[in-house]
Order: sequence, then structure tokens, then C-alpha cells
Amino acid sequence: MQQNSLGGDGPLVSTLALGGASLGGVYQDVSQGEADEVVAAALQAGVNLIDVAPYYGLTRAETALGVALRGAARNDYVLMTKVGRYGDRDWDFSRDATLRSLDASLARLGVDHIDVLQCHDIEHGDRRQLLDEALPTLRTLKSEGVIGRIGVTGYDLSLLEDVAVEQQVDTVMAYCTYTLQDRRLAETARRLNAAGISVFNASPLGMGLLTAKGPPDWHPAHPAVRQAAAEAAKACAALGADLSVVALQFAFQTAARIGVASTVVGMSKASNLTRNIEAMTAPLDPAILAAVEAALASVRDIGWDVLPGDGGKAGR
Ligand SMILES: NC(=O)c1ccc[n+]([C@@H]2O[C@H](COP(=O)([O-])OP(=O)(O)OC[C@H]3O[C@@H](n4cnc5c(N)ncnc54)[C@H](OP(=O)(O)O)[C@@H]3O)[C@@H](O)[C@H]2O)c1
Repeated sequence: MQQNSLGGDGPLVSTLALGGASLGGVYQDVSQGEADEVVAAALQAGVNLIDVAPYYGLTRAETALGVALRGAARNDYVLMTKVGRYGDRDWDFSRDATLRSLDASLARLGVDHIDVLQCHDIEHGDRRQLLDEALPTLRTLKSEGVIGRIGVTGYDLSLLEDVAVEQQVDTVMAYCTYTLQDRRLAETARRLNAAGISVFNASPLGMGLLTAKGPPDWHPAHPAVRQAAAEAAKACAALGADLSVVALQFAFQTAARIGVASTVVGMSKASNLTRNIEAMTAPLDPAILAAVEAALASVRDIGWDVLPGDGGKAGR
């Protein structure tokens, strides 16, 4: 498994990261046995970067991950979690909430430090609180060694870039913005890299949009985007391919070019992990890519900030 160093001098992280939202049952129910199996398989395969958040399954993902990591040597994985988001529409970037949240995460995860602590979905919540309380608190925690690095996450690329550069954070995690359908992160990532900030590309499957099964009901994409993605899945199937594999081949195999340190994929099944590791190196067939791009051409870069859908949650 290829690795990148966070910030040049930081920990070495695998270019595929295990995304923990799935472990919170966000897509379907997941048993502890499945969580144990996928985490063990990831570590065994050299996938050492794991991302989670208190929000995923309203603490269920962190609890399941903590159990699955019991017995693993702490040096064998690089752990990222988040503060600030606690429900579908519940943000709190105050100092007290930040400290309480970190303590609760440490307890659930069974660790004494977090490698990257991120402010979750910063386009929501109180901006002043984020800048005046959460981020200064994270800086203090970093100086005390309780956390290794500070990150921000979200969907609004322009805000992520502004805050990350101005506040000199270490990492940015953007989601659903570097996929077969939406490539807007590419430009932002180059600029963030130039400012010394490591970039994570989360949700290369567009939170299930770019899979044969299609997105969950709560997905925020516009119906036109869902329709085009369904056409892309059909085009793939007609050529004997699977849209999720093509989407991951694209994201993994172009990540280094745009300056992505790691691609964060949600996986609750060890079988998906195995397929996804294969997609990192299996050559992407240009004819299949062309067919998928044709199906998605009319909705390229059309996120729900551009054309809102009617599906559920305000960001994830
Ligand atoms: N604001 C933020 O900070 C933010 C937002 C979004 C995401 N993230 C992070 O990024 C991670 C990835 O995002 P995500 O999990 O929401 O979306 P995603 O990675 O785009 O998609 C995950 C979904 O795809 C399925 N899947 C994975 N590999 C597959 C394959 N080979 N074939 C078919 N289906 C496959 C998973 O199924 P199974 O679970 O059944 O394996 C899951 O349902 C999250 O888990 C989280 O850690 C952060």
C-alpha cells in the first residue's frame, strides 16, 4: 500500500483510508462482527488511516471502531475524528463542547491521543465560535500533544480553503467534490498543497451516488444528478463493468496528480475493501471511462450547492 507523509514531516498514511460513516449504520445496519472484520482486514492490508466522527450513527461508529481496534497496536494506525457536529442539524464549536467531545471520543475509541482532530462541516454552525473557540482549543490541545494535527472538513470548498489557509490548519477533508461526477476539489487541492496543507478526498463514490445500487434516500443530490448517475451505472453494466469500481479507479489513480494525500472510502464490508484495493492499481479502461463521462456530462460539477436536491440532511 502506497503511503504519503502528512505535511512532509507527519505520520505516513495509506493512500486509501477507511471511512467510518458506514460503521455507524449510515447506509445500512452494520454488526460489530462486520466492523471487526473490515477493520482487521484494513490493517492487515496496510490501510492505516481511519476516519470517524461522533456524528456517524450518533456515536455508534466511534464505539464500534473502538471495539474493533482493541488489541491493535496504537502505532499501527493513524486515527482521525472530529468535533463540532453532533446531529443532522446540531453543531457546537464552543470550547467546552470541543473539550467534552474529544474526551468522549477518546473513551469510545479506547485511545489516549488522536492523530488528526477535525472541525466537522464548518460551513454549518456558528462561524465566530469556530474561529474564536474550537480552532484555538485545538491549537492548545496540539501543543499539549493530545492531538497530532488540526483539520477542517466540509463541502464548501471556498470556505474550507479560506479558513484552512487563514487559520493555518494541517489538513482539509472535502467530500463528494472529487469524483467522476464532480471534480471541483482539484483546483482547490493544488492551492492547499502549495500552502502546506494536506488534502483528503472523502466520498469518492459520492456517498453511494456512483454505485450500481444508487444513493440512499437522504442523499442531497438533485434528481437530474441521480438520473445521470443511474445512466452511468447502466452504461458500465452494458460494458461488463461496475460503476463503483470505475469511480474508485478514477479517484485513486488521479489522486497524486491533484495533490490528494489519501482517498477516504466508507466500507463496512471486507469484500468491498478487497475490491477497492484492487481498484487502486487495476488499469482504467478508456472506453468505459468515456462511456461513464458521457452519461455524466450534463451534470458535471453540479453539486447540491449548485442545484439543490430534496434529500434529507444538511451536509454530512
Ligand atoms: N464532512 C465530512 O467530514 C465528511 C463527509 C463525508 C464523508 N466523510 C468521510 O469520508 C468517508 C467516505 O464517505 P462515505 O462513506 O459517506 O461515502 P462513499 O465512500 O462515497 O460511499 C460509501 C458507500 O459505498 C459503499 N461501497 C464502498 N465500496 C464499494 C464497492 N466496491 N462497491 C459498491 N459499494 C461500495 C459502502 O458500502 P459498505 O458500507 O456496505 O461497504 C457505502 O455504502 C466517510 O465514511 C467519512 O469517514 C467525511
